[in-house]
Amino acid sequence: LEKLYINGGVPLRGEVQISGAKNAVLKIMAAALLGQGPSLLSNVPQIRDVKTMCSVLRSLGAQVESGHGTVKIDPGTGLMNTAPHDLVKGMRASIQVLGPLLGRLGEVKVALPGGCAIGDRPIDMHLEGLKAMGAEIRDEHGYVLARATKLRGARIHLDYPSVGATENLMMAASLAEGETVLLNPAKEPEIIESQRFLNKMGAQIRGAGTNRIVIKGVRQLKGADYRVGPDRIEAGTFMVAAALTGGEILINGAVEEHLGAVIHKLQQAGVQLQFMEGNRVLVRSKEKLQPIQLRTMPYPGFPTDMQPQFMVLSTVAAGVSIITEAVYNNRFKHVNDLRRMGADIYVEGRTAVIKGTQFLSGACVTCPDLRAGAALVLAGLAANGQTVVEDIAHIDRGYENLESKLAQLGADIVRQQSGEQAC
Ligand code: EPZ
Repeated sequence: LEKLYINGGVPLRGEVQISGAKNAVLKIMAAALLGQGPSLLSNVPQIRDVKTMCSVLRSLGAQVESGHGTVKIDPGTGLMNTAPHDLVKGMRASIQVLGPLLGRLGEVKVALPGGCAIGDRPIDMHLEGLKAMGAEIRDEHGYVLARATKLRGARIHLDYPSVGATENLMMAASLAEGETVLLNPAKEPEIIESQRFLNKMGAQIRGAGTNRIVIKGVRQLKGADYRVGPDRIEAGTFMVAAALTGGEILINGAVEEHLGAVIHKLQQAGVQLQFMEGNRVLVRSKEKLQPIQLRTMPYPGFPTDMQPQFMVLSTVAAGVSIITEAVYNNRFKHVNDLRRMGADIYVEGRTAVIKGTQFLSGACVTCPDLRAGAALVLAGLAANGQTVVEDIAHIDRGYENLESKLAQLGADIVRQQSGEQAC
């Protein structure tokens, strides 16, 4: 029942440290199941999805100890092969235990995923790839059952560069008999992080980040220590916060090569970015923001996880912006609340036309999902008056201490149990 209370209009100034990448660490935690010994992960973000993944791994019988920014995972020798529905339904990334468990145990039962409410999110490509490697797949009663005495290497072409399918297949292929070639895989930086971690465990993978990933199966893998890289979507979110509030923020942990499409669009909007060595960038915006056109695409195209944040930017730009969400079929759930804050947005299918207005006005809004929630917070920072954001548990899934990081930059934002003030 906690809410965020925001009084907008304060230009954000100062320095912010980006946390470890949610979409890297969740897969690396699953990959740790493949090791014959413990893995120690550091720079782990303190977010709800990491806690959920710890619970999933514990329910499988792994020993999991989480410290401040660290997680130690020891699969032990008694791993179970069933990932329960009550855990999986809350987080789609739980499906990433499918590949490691099948590779290690030869049999696995995972509840079909749930996760964010951003459209249907099938796992057909995950399953097709595992079948190509010799797995027998059935789904019944809302569970996927997969069995394979020994997975064998295969040549797998993905119809779409799915991040999750690429990760699951890389992990399963690491212990398969022979060589697996993944064609048209996802190229996201998180895939490169998974390859780095798996190779530290003794896997033989090359090509992550390119159109072709080759995995030579090995007999077994050991535990490994790994420091998680910074979260490019958190970095992008703070870049938009600087632009929206007309402030100036030094962001520590922004990897320029991971943010090409975001940087390009911010520059088109008239935002000034000055990259410095050590993955730092100074972001400021003095002039009126310019409208943009963007279409979300697989990496290195514009990231869908930054679409809601850029829609907020567009609502106060000097002109008409066009945003097409080409990755998910239902990722405009932030539109209605933005309209309630005074935004002029017309949606036709997967395309939104946003006519910039002078300003947004604060309102009571509700987070429908993780990135839409972050976008509504950004809108509150820019709006006149007070914005009250509820259902902020969605935001806590993927952002570590968002409101305290914003407050340190001067934002007038507090997290409170919902007071008597009704929205
Ligand atoms: C990962 O999800 C991220 N999540 C998402 O971030 C991100 O939006 C997405 O990649 C795309 O970049 C994590 O890494 C935990 P996909 P994932 O498989 O792996 C369809 C966030 O906000 N598809 O590339 O689920 C699917 O329905 C989250 O941090 C199939 O049709 O993404 C979707 O429309 C949200 N069949 C599209 O592909 C399949 O077998 C992209 O999915 C698999 C996917």
